[in-house]
Amino acid sequence: WSCVAIERERTLAMIKPDGLSGNYTERIKEVILESGFDIVKEAVVQLDAERASLFYAEHSGRSFFDSLVKYMTSGPVLVMILERPDAISHWRVLIGPTDARKAKISNPNSIRAMCGVDSEKNCVHGSDSPQSAAREISFFFGDVRSDTVEHDEL
Ligand code: TYD
Ligand code: MG
Repeated sequence: WSCVAIERERTLAMIKPDGLSGNYTERIKEVILESGFDIVKEAVVQLDAERASLFYAEHSGRSFFDSLVKYMTSGPVLVMILERPDAISHWRVLIGPTDARKAKISNPNSIRAMCGVDSEKNCVHGSDSPQSAAREISFFFGDVRSDTVEHDEL
């Protein structure tokens, strides 16, 4: 018989300050686990303006940047490494579009529809490509390429 190993992929997920303070964490984790992801690692982090600016460096110069940094530093965030086949695009579909107002109309079952407010306060983050997933995972967790799932952490 033959056995095809389906290649797993990792993405960086984040519950932003209002998601964490609004007590959406348990529901979001339920969605994550029901969707076949393993939570490889997780950490609660308080970003300062410098770290938040670095995380969103690709958006520096945009009109919303200062406001975004203020939002992202307004309280702690929960960052998680999620793993499953096709993790990056699967998580992006689950969170829904950037603007939570749009999400409530076009993707009412998405996470941003559940707990987001607008295009800034959208409750959750997901890496948008393999390159950004690698960058964002090492931004928060350092070199974890060989780490395996630690179920006892859950
Ligand atoms: P972006 O990478 O376009 O969206 P996504 O988070 O879906 O990948 O933007 C990054 C973050 O910047 C977004 O989550 C919230 C903030 N943002 C605003 O505050 N206003 C905006 O108009 C946009 C496009 C983004
Ligand atoms: Mg993005």
